[in-house]
Amino acid sequence: MTADRGNAPTPASVEAQVRDERTAAWLGLALGVTFSVCFATGLLSHLIQDPPGWFTWPPRPAGLYRITQGTHVVTGFASIPLLLAKLWVVHPKLFAWPPVRSVAHGLERLALVPLVGGGLFLLLSGTLNVARWYPWSFFFPRAHYWAAWITLGALAIHVGAKAATTRRALGAARGTAPGAEGDGRARRAFLGAVAATSGLLAVGHAGGTVGWLSPLSAFAQRRPHQGPQDLPVNKTARSARVLSSARDPGYRLVVEGGRRRLELSLDDLREREQHEAELPIACVEGWSASARWRGVRLRDLLDEAGTPAGAEVEVQSLQQGGLYRASLVNHRQARDPDTLLALQLDGERLHLDHGYPLRLIGPNRPGVQQTKWVHRLVIR
Ligand code: HEM
Repeated sequence: MTADRGNAPTPASVEAQVRDERTAAWLGLALGVTFSVCFATGLLSHLIQDPPGWFTWPPRPAGLYRITQGTHVVTGFASIPLLLAKLWVVHPKLFAWPPVRSVAHGLERLALVPLVGGGLFLLLSGTLNVARWYPWSFFFPRAHYWAAWITLGALAIHVGAKAATTRRALGAARGTAPGAEGDGRARRAFLGAVAATSGLLAVGHAGGTVGWLSPLSAFAQRRPHQGPQDLPVNKTARSARVLSSARDPGYRLVVEGGRRRLELSLDDLREREQHEAELPIACVEGWSASARWRGVRLRDLLDEAGTPAGAEVEVQSLQQGGLYRASLVNHRQARDPDTLLALQLDGERLHLDHGYPLRLIGPNRPGVQQTKWVHRLVIR
């Protein structure tokens, strides 16, 4: 068999094919999808943690937050190769001359600053946050949140400006548009390699939630069965500085704000009716793991304290200071039969790092809201 040297691809023809409008359009389409998924799931996480008056996050389905936030982080990681590949493909255009051809073209180019800057910032800050490395002094969720709005605004302008080019380029990909050149092998190989890298990064993090993927997940920062009592921990009793207060024999749970004030020792709590629920800890960082919890139903304590219908509850920790030392349980979550003040985990007394002597665990709540080392409930 003889090679047809006339048709053999040269480095220049391969580069021309890979760096063309069609490659840019496919990558843009994929990034549009992944960034929209990240934006929707991230916004949801923001609303759950900082709910405006019109928003009440329901307690069911119990595992919904673990899916939405797991999707957020996995999709974010999958976006990294897509964005880097897209920048590599289009960057010669950034230096095309003249830099501005009209007012509209100038505005479109200006929108690239927040689009590229915001996209890179979101992916980098998200990655470092998940790695628990904070080489900055700003508050990550707030900076990440506002960067998301700015980036999505710039993305909308960019999509509007490039819609006609994208349609034409994808038409060319199906061979229906004039100007479809080459057999597309180089482009397909390049896009395939980018997709495979995105897939690897996604699998590399999905093992933080999906048990059977865990052995394949080189980058998962927590794994479903690693930690005391086979459950991962982010905040330890030592870092929360509750080592002695949590073990104080004079411990009491105070319930106030209802018609009766309660002050209950651990024995008082153990004597009350106990319930069991299988519920996940679903971390804002994307990992999650299920366990069997046993304790007193929050709604039983609220009834005992004479709580008015529709009240919400602030659950306070022994932890001194820190952003997550208290959490709010809305009226729907407070009445859910599986919202517990847990004394046990998988049939054993709670480990200190899991919140001994008492922790909140409820369905469909972010991990940061499953308050540990609980000592006070304030009914509002
Ligand atoms: C590698 C990529 C990414 C990772 C690892 C990541 C990770 C995270 C994490 C861990 C949080 C929870 C923060 C907390 O509550 O403490 C979060 C929230 C959020 N993310 Fe991302 N993210 C990534 C990319 C993106 C992208 C591309 C967007 C938007 C296009 C986005 C939008 C948001 C929003 C709006 C929030 C809510 C912030 C808040 O609670 O105020 N993220 N992200």
